[in-house]
Amino acid sequence: MRDTKEKLSMTSVALHWVIGLSILTLMTVGVYMTDYEVHALYPLHKSIGSLIFLVILFRVIWRMINGWPESTANYKKWEMNLARFVQWILITATVLIPISGLLMSSMGGYGLQIFGAELLAANPSPDDPYKMIPLNGPIAGFAHEAHGLLGKVIFVAIVLHITGALKHHLVDKSDFTLRRMLGLKKNS
Ligand code: HEM
Repeated sequence: MRDTKEKLSMTSVALHWVIGLSILTLMTVGVYMTDYEVHALYPLHKSIGSLIFLVILFRVIWRMINGWPESTANYKKWEMNLARFVQWILITATVLIPISGLLMSSMGGYGLQIFGAELLAANPSPDDPYKMIPLNGPIAGFAHEAHGLLGKVIFVAIVLHITGALKHHLVDKSDFTLRRMLGLKKNS
């Protein structure tokens, strides 16, 4: 089923919540494991991040086929432009953050493993097997910086996105944007 102004397809609703909640969880785990140096969480973060990347790519194709969901009401131009701008930031940053993670790990010499399945072998130093030799240090360094920055960009965009959704739901009372994203129809 395609998205309409009255009702969104189950695919759009499922993609929205699966990706949204996964990103929030990955960001929380990412900051926690980095700040508290919990290295045991790294493989889990990387594995789930790599798998969710496939779902994110599917969503991009889905959006290209379906376009953006139509606005449920005639809002002011600046309001619609801001909402669309934030949606663009979110979709772009959610594509770039796993790519930067994959680049940081692979180019840093850590290889790529998804739940133990090795896609790219690590590159340990012959003198010290705990030390990895980067395949490309500058790219790994840039990707590392980008990964952290994109996390902050996504955080700000999510706050704006949730504020907008709650404003529609609680202030513009007749609005059904949030209900539509829960898979409900206008008057159900
Ligand atoms: C949607 C996917 C992802 C999100 C939202 C995400 C988010 C984050 C965030 C917010 C941090 C903390 C950054 C900081 O505080 O500097 C982090 C750290 C990290 N992420 Fe991801 N990540 C994702 C996917 C991946 C993937 C696919 C990989 C690698 C295969 C990866 C590897 C890492 C590593 C190695 C760190 C620790 C960096 C350090 O030690 O400084 N991430 N991630």
